Amino acid sequence: MKTEQRQTNPAAGTATMRAVVQDVYGDTSDVMRLEQIARPEPGPGQVLVRVAAAGVDRGVWHLMAGKPYAARLAFGLRTPRHPVRGREFAGRVEAVGSGVTTVRPGDEIYGMGEGTFAEYVLASESKVAPRPANLSAVQAAALSISGVTALQAVRDHGRVTAGQQVLVIGASGGVGSFAVQIAKASGAEVTGVSSAAKADLVRALGADSVVDYSVGDGLEVGERRFDVVLDIGGDRPLRQLRRVLTPHGRLVIVGGEGGGRLLGIGRQLRAAALSPFVGQTLGFFVASEKAADLVLLTGLVESGQVTPAVDRTFPLAEAAAAVTYMTGGHARGKVVVEVSR
Ligand SMILES: NC(=O)c1ccc[n+]([C@@H]2O[C@H](COP(=O)([O-])OP(=O)(O)OC[C@H]3O[C@@H](n4cnc5c(N)ncnc54)[C@H](OP(=O)(O)O)[C@@H]3O)[C@@H](O)[C@H]2O)c1
Repeated sequence: MKTEQRQTNPAAGTATMRAVVQDVYGDTSDVMRLEQIARPEPGPGQVLVRVAAAGVDRGVWHLMAGKPYAARLAFGLRTPRHPVRGREFAGRVEAVGSGVTTVRPGDEIYGMGEGTFAEYVLASESKVAPRPANLSAVQAAALSISGVTALQAVRDHGRVTAGQQVLVIGASGGVGSFAVQIAKASGAEVTGVSSAAKADLVRALGADSVVDYSVGDGLEVGERRFDVVLDIGGDRPLRQLRRVLTPHGRLVIVGGEGGGRLLGIGRQLRAAALSPFVGQTLGFFVASEKAADLVLLTGLVESGQVTPAVDRTFPLAEAAAAVTYMTGGHARGKVVVEVSR
């Protein structure tokens, strides 16, 4: 990835920063490049963060590719509205805008912001929390979007309680690695589904058993039935997912890969439409990004119940390679871009 000057050079005297930007949508990360761009200033309710590390999650690919196409209504119709990629971060507060009361310059925080593959990012005060005391910035950078999504899947949508049988499909990935740990912390017996190569990771995360998705029909669980199925990886038909649920079990569709280029959520909509007519509860959700859940995650981390699984890091100049590594299915848990390296 080359460093270039943007055509619209920042005016002389403007503070600048290195950032990974894209001008056009594309399926591969060669649409991204490192540039020197103007450093943002915090507005009301905003926090300017000196980014130490940025997590890489599937959402980065969706924003980069502009897919599913319907998402371009939010991302920008012809070109990405926000040119800098990355949404998860850990870093130090550099400055705060008017009305910000919960964080101060110098605080170490983590959370969500728009454009975290950069030396500085703006975040809303409502989407940040103090960094867990026992985590490095690299570990904390992996936590926000994947961790909050997993928390909401287990707690709000799966409504997992102690003693339940929980199946986590996609247990070795970013969201799944947190979901396994949070379901275990809720007292459930957890079965993870992953590739055979990552079964050791899924066990180390606390799963009681692991199913290899390359065997048989990809969901070989014998006679076992699950109270809750968290569908995070793959693109299984509803009938296959319902087959492994108890008669009154809950299916939570988290993942959106392979769901069609236009809407991307055909399977999710069919599940929600069918749910009122069957004994099982079938549904999906889009995670809501809120500080209260980051604070809850911090508690789970500081009590030792959840630890981010970070596979490896890439320097900022190689953020595109980090995205390719993740989309290529290589990551064991999460990949992180180390901005301050
Ligand atoms: N609903 C929301 O608000 C929300 C929020 C965040 C993410 N998501 C979605 O959640 C999904 C997962 O995101 P992520 O960041 O965790 O991605 P990820 O890190 O790439 O993980 C993908 C997981 O899927 C597994 N997998 C791949 N093919 C599979 C198959 N055929 N059967 C079963 N598992 C399979 C992978 O296993 P191996 O690596 O072992 O092959 C891996 O565990 C994405 O679709 C993302 O868009 C949704």
